[in-house]
Amino acid sequence: MNIFYKWSMCIILIFFCNFCVSYKPVFIIHGILAENSTMINFAQKIKEYHPGTKIYILSEYCGWNSLLPMMHQTKEIGFTLLQISALHPEGFHLIGYSQGGLLARAVLELFPEHRVHNFVSLSSPQAGQYGTNMLRIFFPHLIKEEAYKIFYSSIGQHLSVANYWNDPLHQSLFYKYSKFLPVINNDILPQNNSNFSYKSGIIKLHKLILIGGPDDGIIEPWESSQFGYYNENEEIVPMQNRKDYQKDLFGLKTLNKRGDLHIFTISGVRHHFWYRNITVIKQYILPWLN
Ligand SMILES: *[C@@H]1O[C@H](CO)[C@@H](O)[C@H](O)[C@H]1NC(C)=O
Ligand SMILES: *[C@@H]1O[C@H](CO)[C@@H](O)[C@H](O)[C@H]1NC(C)=O
Ligand SMILES: *[C@@H]1O[C@H](CO)[C@@H](O)[C@H](O)[C@H]1NC(C)=O
Ligand SMILES: *[C@@H]1O[C@H](CO)[C@@H](O)[C@H](O)[C@H]1NC(C)=O
Repeated sequence: MNIFYKWSMCIILIFFCNFCVSYKPVFIIHGILAENSTMINFAQKIKEYHPGTKIYILSEYCGWNSLLPMMHQTKEIGFTLLQISALHPEGFHLIGYSQGGLLARAVLELFPEHRVHNFVSLSSPQAGQYGTNMLRIFFPHLIKEEAYKIFYSSIGQHLSVANYWNDPLHQSLFYKYSKFLPVINNDILPQNNSNFSYKSGIIKLHKLILIGGPDDGIIEPWESSQFGYYNENEEIVPMQNRKDYQKDLFGLKTLNKRGDLHIFTISGVRHHFWYRNITVIKQYILPWLN
């Protein structure tokens, strides 16, 4: 009787522990100008609540290197993503913070053979950026109304921020010069004219989670974190009313119709707190990291 009891407990424990170690690995892409170390505490929190999770933090493009052109970064990060995919063919999750979330989306599109299940985009300028607060970090005297003169030029495009600078009042220059955002939005053909499909890597995701909020302070408009953006009158057009969604240029509509696009608007969180705020981590991020 006693022996039987012990054995059944043992079997239950083995069964249970198979569940407790079954969290999928997580790959985290840090934000602009950040060191990879900024993500260590975040990684530790994930492990605290999901013991045994294997976490990868992007170690390239830290600090000033994060200002290198987005396409260049995308291609290199793509190789890292495929390496992790090879190590974990059963699947893993991807989190991109700020500029890192936009890089993550580009990587998913350009490397559709990836094995990512859920992608959490944490306050990332997915539809672009047009705001003086972010500019101040690099150019203390530049205002958003003038930035296009620098960013929409061949030289300006050597800077990552310029690649997703989306000035609603200078859209023709945006399409003419921007080497990144219109391309990954599948809004113009890539230069090699291959009519490459940017959709397959996105629609194969199990879930796409977009997190952002009105008190962010750096991402402008904050709605860009959820694919909303300014029209030419600087009014916000929500995702569902924008062309890239309506024409399903890179799969957002497909995901949404399937019920796999999850959008969270959270107030009271400043830009640099998204990955440090325990409530945000517990309520909005962890549930997608199973
Ligand atoms: C950060 O990057 C450095 C240099 O590439 C690497 O040695 C270190 O292990 C990385 N740290 C983390 C936490 O990934
Ligand atoms: C064309 O561009 C796409 C996207 O940049 C790339 O993945 C593809 O390999 C390129 N094709 C050729 C033939 O260069
Ligand atoms: C790419 O090709 C598809 C099918 O061949 C076509 O429907 C689509 O319009 C093309 N995209 C662009 C931007 O030309
Ligand atoms: C943390 O997030 C909650 C919402 O989930 C918010 O109300 C609170 O202000 C945030 N605190 C900080 C310091 O970001």
